[in-house]
Amino acid sequence: MEPDKSGFYTAVPAAAVGPGKITKVDINDQPVILTRWQNKLVAFSARCPHAAADLSQGELYRGKIECPDHGYVFSVENGRILWPEDEMRRLKRLEIKEVGGEVKVKV
Ligand code: FES
Repeated sequence: MEPDKSGFYTAVPAAAVGPGKITKVDINDQPVILTRWQNKLVAFSARCPHAAADLSQGELYRGKIECPDHGYVFSVENGRILWPEDEMRRLKRLEIKEVGGEVKVKV
């Protein structure tokens, strides 16, 4: 898979990404989660910033994703950690856009 001139890879048809739903794709050998939150597309690395567990196996609810391994919770909106409060980890968010019915992501 080759990126376009701006570095965006075509990931999936736009209809495959829905609110409250985890769509996992591999882009350039990197696992990525796609979803929609408050009518905006969101993309972030599927590797948990704590110890690299697969976040696509976690729970996505009300704009939060909970890691399946140790229960860390992150905001999908801004990537900030919500629990535990004494850690500074963040989701690795990725640029995402919709063009001509396709979702494109920059990794
Ligand atoms: S690997 Fe995700 S909380 Fe530890």
